[in-house]
Amino acid sequence: MRQDIEQLNMTLTRQSAQDVLAWAQEEFGESVTLALSLGAEDVVLLDMLSKSGKPARAFVLDTGRLHQETYDLLGRVKARYRNVEISVYFPQTSQIEQLVSSNGPNSFYESVDNRRECCRIRKVEPLARALSGVDAWITGLRRVQSVTRAETPIVEADEAHGGILKVNPLTNWSEDDVWSYIRANGVPYHPLHDNGYPSIGCAPCTRAIEPGEDIRAGRWWWENPEHKECGLHIKR
Ligand code: ADX
Ligand code: SF4
Repeated sequence: MRQDIEQLNMTLTRQSAQDVLAWAQEEFGESVTLALSLGAEDVVLLDMLSKSGKPARAFVLDTGRLHQETYDLLGRVKARYRNVEISVYFPQTSQIEQLVSSNGPNSFYESVDNRRECCRIRKVEPLARALSGVDAWITGLRRVQSVTRAETPIVEADEAHGGILKVNPLTNWSEDDVWSYIRANGVPYHPLHDNGYPSIGCAPCTRAIEPGEDIRAGRWWWENPEHKECGLHIKR
């Protein structure tokens, strides 16, 4: 398996993102799904999937704490990309009720452990449900986004989700590549990207960055860079 994946990476790394998606769709049919945060990378992938003309699926993890602008964009892309089936996953009500009742609504500011617990309930557990029964998922991860992503390959076995394949077609893309595609193709994008937010997650855990700051500096800005993963992309 490991050798197959190495071989696949050697082949796919020479191909365009569209070709990588076409390969995934050919290989997995409707058993591959796009993780759609509605950030710039993901709307690029959504546009490409829609243009492939093949049946395609995506899912949004609605943590309940997203920006109003994120919901507005979800409405817009659902209307525009009707040929992609976009599902929405929520956290489990009982877990949220327990978390907020015992720790309060904003416990994520108090410690890394509390923050991870909130991410686990609002993102990681719903992700596991979104991925149950699928053979592969597609993400908008890019190597230059952070120290924690510097070695992201095009394809990897996702051991945290039963060894299904994780496909990262934009891993070698630069910020400029993303924006050139968005502009050339008139892709609808998150309005906060124009207000100093290169990376967007939940509203209380995302702020605008200052010129010259790292592109993920506005995510969980009170934590050290090596802690800045919410658990969606942690390797087991
Ligand atoms: S995060 O782990 O720090 O939140 P980031 O916002 O950089 O991740 O997004 C990286 C990739 O994770 C996105 O391109 C997308 O594929 C997936 N992702 C992140 N957040 C969500 C979400 N709320 N719903 C679906 N997919 C998501
Ligand atoms: Fe909770 Fe913040 Fe993680 Fe969203 S990003 S799930 S609000 S800790």
